[in-house]
Amino acid sequence: MIGDNRETYGTISRLLHWGMALLLGWQFLSAGSHLLFDDTAIEAFFWPTHKPVGLLLFVLIILRAIWALAHLRARPPSVNRLATAGHVVLYALVTVIPALALLRQYGSGRSWEPLGLPLFPGFEGEKIEWMMAPANLLHSWLGWTLLVLIIGHVFMAAWHRRRPDQPDVLKRMW
Ligand code: HEM
Ligand code: HEM
Repeated sequence: MIGDNRETYGTISRLLHWGMALLLGWQFLSAGSHLLFDDTAIEAFFWPTHKPVGLLLFVLIILRAIWALAHLRARPPSVNRLATAGHVVLYALVTVIPALALLRQYGSGRSWEPLGLPLFPGFEGEKIEWMMAPANLLHSWLGWTLLVLIIGHVFMAAWHRRRPDQPDVLKRMW
């Protein structure tokens, strides 16, 4: 089943959900290596992947949001309003966190070619401060907040599975 229905998520939603979960796991390994293992072989291994994987996550979350909105009435209903709000916040953070970083990357004036793709040609002269300030202030804080929310999300999925009076939401996403 490619698309979703009211009982269960289809292949596309599942691939996007679990594929992005893996990529986000990797993204937090690279962020963690930057925070905790500065100037070590661990950072040298993980950190160079941070920007390209972040860009990939940005593209995927846009496709995923379009897919979700297009099938809003043909997907399993949320268990309650808190779950809906939690999922909306996850979507928002996975959009805003890389978006701010990309704005900063552009504003730095340095050329950027993720995976050989000439995305930002770079420019001569001063950096554009207003493009850099939001990510300097918020990128890492929002990033770690996202990790905490993801841990909460996993915990809630496990909680729903164990409670006999609650729907087993893992079944419809696995
Ligand atoms: C969903 C995607 C992303 C997540 C979850 C994420 C998460 C994080 C986190 C948690 C940190 C803090 C590391 C620390 O405490 O040292 C960080 C740092 C950083 N990230 Fe990302 N990131 C994402 C995408 C991107 C993208 C697309 C770029 C660049 C185009 C980028 C560039 C950077 C840079 C340069 C730093 C170090 C400076 C800073 O802390 O702001 N990130 N990221
Ligand atoms: C081991 C990790 C994870 C587990 C066990 C898990 C579990 C689940 C389950 C069971 C559902 C279905 C909920 C329902 O139908 O009401 C779900 C949906 C969802 N999950 Fe996760 N999840 C994980 C990782 C993540 C991550 C890393 C994100 C980050 C964005 C995420 C974002 C979402 C969103 C936005 C939904 C709503 C459905 C959608 O629009 O795709 N999940 N998750």
